[in-house]
Order: sequence, then C-alpha cells, then structure tokens
Amino acid sequence: MFAKNSSLIDFNLANPKIIEKLFSFAQSLQMKALPPRNNGEYAIVAIFEASTRTRLSFEAALARAGIAALVFDGGLKTSLEKGESIDDSILNMAAMNPQLMVIRCGENVDLEKYVQKFSFPFLNAGWGTKSHPSQALLDAFTLRQQWKTLAGKKLLIVGDVKHSRVASSHIDLAQALGYEVAQCGPSQYLSSHSQIKTFSEISAGLQWADAVMALRFQFERHDKEQEFSRDHYSAEYGLNQKRLKQLKADAWILHPGPINHGIEIESDVLLDPRCLVLKQVSNGVYVREAIVRMVLGENA
Ligand code: CP
Repeated sequence: MFAKNSSLIDFNLANPKIIEKLFSFAQSLQMKALPPRNNGEYAIVAIFEASTRTRLSFEAALARAGIAALVFDGGLKTSLEKGESIDDSILNMAAMNPQLMVIRCGENVDLEKYVQKFSFPFLNAGWGTKSHPSQALLDAFTLRQQWKTLAGKKLLIVGDVKHSRVASSHIDLAQALGYEVAQCGPSQYLSSHSQIKTFSEISAGLQWADAVMALRFQFERHDKEQEFSRDHYSAEYGLNQKRLKQLKADAWILHPGPINHGIEIESDVLLDPRCLVLKQVSNGVYVREAIVRMVLGENA
C-alpha cells in the first residue's frame, strides 16, 4: 500500500506502519510545501458521480505536487452525452498515459479490473457504496492530530451506515490502526459487518464515544418503502445541542460532507469548538498530496 505505482482502492493490504508513514508525510506537507515535481507529469481526475470536496482536494493536492490535473467531469459536455460508455471513457483516458488516475464512480464500475489492466496507479475517490479510503484516511489523520494516537479510541458513526462508503472504509481502517467503530441509526440502515458494535439508543453511543461522525442521510440510495421522514430522522438521530450534552466534554464531532442541515446535524453544532468538519476538508488536501506523492515513488 502506497508503494510506488500502487493503487488505492480499499484497505485490503493495510499496513499500520505504512499508514503512519503517510500521516507523517501529510503532516510535513502541511507544515512546509515540498518543491513541485515539474516533470511534465499529468493525472486524470475522472468524475462520474457528483463531488465537491474530494474532487477539489485531489486537484489541490496535484497542484501542490506540480502535477497537472486533467479533469473529466462526467456531468459536463463529455462524450458520455453521445452515448459513450464509462468503460470506453476510462479506456480512452488511460490511453493518454497519465501518471495516475483519480476516479469517482458508482459500484457498477469494476475498479479492480482497471488496476489489473493498467500499469499506472488508480486512486479511489469514492466508489458507490463500497469504499472511500482517502476520506477515512483524512478523518483518521484529523483525529490523530487531536489525540496523538488512534489506538484504543472510540468512533461512533451515526446514520445510514449501510450505504456509506465512508463508514465501510472506517471499519477496515480501524482494524489496521486500532480504533473501535460503533454505529447507531435506523435498523434497516445498519451495517451487518461483524467488526462493528451497535447502539440502539443514540444517547448510550454518545456517552461511549471519543468522537462522533454524523453521516449524510443518503435519500437517493433509499428504498421509498423503508424511508424515514426527514423530521423523524432528525428527531431520532440528528446531532443537536441537547445531544451534544451527552457527549464527553472532549469528544470530537465530524461529518464527511455534504451536510443536510437540520437533518443529520443542526447548523449550530457546526460552530461548536469540538467540530472538526472544516479541519477534515483542509487536511484532505495534505493527506491526498501524500498519497499522490507516495504512489509516484517519493519517500515520506
Ligand atoms: N466527503 C466527500 O466525499 O465529499 P464530496 O462528495 O463532496 O467529494
């Protein structure tokens, strides 16, 4: 993982020592910019599903590293409009021989197939409901900056854990880095993963947690029959001032974004000094720059 020319699709080969090396690299990039590479290198950033934070922070990371980002915005005047398939689009982009490809796509795209087929690295920028490793890494990096170590810490994830690629990547990363993940949410949206503890009452979960992460309630992925009303969801699981009182005084608050204000989190919670939401976004640039530089062969 993160070796020269390696891809980042999930945490199957997660090695805590290498992840620590990545975090140190990101930390040093945050303190002091390294010179750009300036070797005429370019990366393709292929965006087949909506994104703001991940797309822009990978672009920022590439800019900081001196690698040109060629952005394929699948929502905007590409040959997808003329009926070209995603597969053909990726094959054609790959034929331009980028140094790496960053890709956000649905789970219908077989990323593993492309990793096998091409010699340059693929960096998963959010893959359907499957995984979002760079998001889990930047969340873990952000918490580690507060705690100094992640080992033994407790992260409560609240909401639609079943459809969350962020939660899925945290469950895998937590096993490598030694933090514990628990979930709380509507029963039909809970993960059945064996490594995750479940709280049926959010109050008990909040008292247990060293950090709480609210997830975006993904209305677009839900079966209408099973759907919670927004008001019901907010009443049962929304983070608000009353619920913050149940958290430990030094527990941190996270959200990967984008946020449904007033559903999974009230706007005033974002102003709480324990809220790290924008810190997560800032840190995303350095963690992604470290990923890019490491898979291109730079040493931390
Ligand atoms: N957290 C996250 O993946 O945000 P975007 O969908 O805006 O990239």
